[in-house]
Amino acid sequence: MKAIAVKPGVPNSVHLVEMPKPSVAEIQDGRGVLVRVLRVGVDGTDKEINNAEYGAAPDGADFLVIGHEGFGVVEETGPNVHELKKGDYVVATVRRPGTSVYDLIGTNDMTTDDTYFERGINLRHGFLSEYYVDDAEFVVKVPRGLKEVGVLLEPMTVVQKGVAQAFEIQRRLKVWKPKRAAVLGAGTIGLLATLVFKLKGMQVVTFGRTPKPYLNSELIEELGAEYVSTADVAVNEYAAEHGAFDVIFEATGFSPIVFDAMQSLAKNGVLILSSVTGGDRTTEVPADRINLDFVLGNKVMVGTVNANREYFESGVKDLSQAKLEYGDWLDRLLTHPVKGLDNYGELFEKLTAGSGAIKVFCEVGEV
Ligand code: BGC
Ligand code: ZN
Repeated sequence: MKAIAVKPGVPNSVHLVEMPKPSVAEIQDGRGVLVRVLRVGVDGTDKEINNAEYGAAPDGADFLVIGHEGFGVVEETGPNVHELKKGDYVVATVRRPGTSVYDLIGTNDMTTDDTYFERGINLRHGFLSEYYVDDAEFVVKVPRGLKEVGVLLEPMTVVQKGVAQAFEIQRRLKVWKPKRAAVLGAGTIGLLATLVFKLKGMQVVTFGRTPKPYLNSELIEELGAEYVSTADVAVNEYAAEHGAFDVIFEATGFSPIVFDAMQSLAKNGVLILSSVTGGDRTTEVPADRINLDFVLGNKVMVGTVNANREYFESGVKDLSQAKLEYGDWLDRLLTHPVKGLDNYGELFEKLTAGSGAIKVFCEVGEV
């Protein structure tokens, strides 16, 4: 079968490889699921991997099959798989367990191991191929009615985990009822975070760099959220003028904005950080003031990396609710399809800034 791979450490090494088709027998205890891949999304992480800034090949391999945002259909199951059957639509989780106590209880996203395993990213082959096989434990069923947008489930889990962590932490407050949310970043994650806060009935302001109107700002306003360009006003300036936020979701990929966000939180507020920033940027901040307000205001900041099965399952629920409530809104995020694995070069061209893309994805098979 065909797959798309990189040579970790070698910039711009994306290429086509020929590999044996995997088989359910590779997975122990008869729990294998063979999936025929239909769609695979790409994002900034794939770009960084192809730039040789991130990612590692599995032990013994000199290449890494990329693709962590998969969507496919079950082709065959092992004898001990009863929760899935041939023809089911599915998405596989990305992280695989290590050895820490968190991994042992099914929360491998909370691992304290230094080495972590992520399909398509770190030490495990990904999904940008004709087929993959995995343990049923890591394969999540997606309802038929979501098949057009199932490729958005993995990015959705970034939001699911971040928001769930924030609500879990805020149980400390006994009566926390967040009303005002800010989302920093208007890309795929920012759009989905805006959606999730709106589904919770909150007042949402989403900040992006690009001045409106453009597709992303229109999608945000269609949800009943407000779009603000940081070219006009910084987050903390906006908060000082219009009121601080009970919860802020950061998804810009630009780390200095975190310190603006810290100054935009209401008392008892929570700031969720989700950007994977591989660079070495530095910045100067009003440290005393930020620290003082955090202390006197009982504020919280939490980092979040993806994601265990629980968040894929809650993501399916929110995607379903979004479909019922907002119709084809999710479909409109799928801006840049690329037909067939052979056209992998186009995937990366469309990922470059300025293409106006929200979600770039490969159509490996017919949905
Ligand atoms: C992926 C996550 C992953 C993270 C860190 C993101 O692009 O969506 O699943 O945990 O990168 O590698
Ligand atoms: Zn990703």
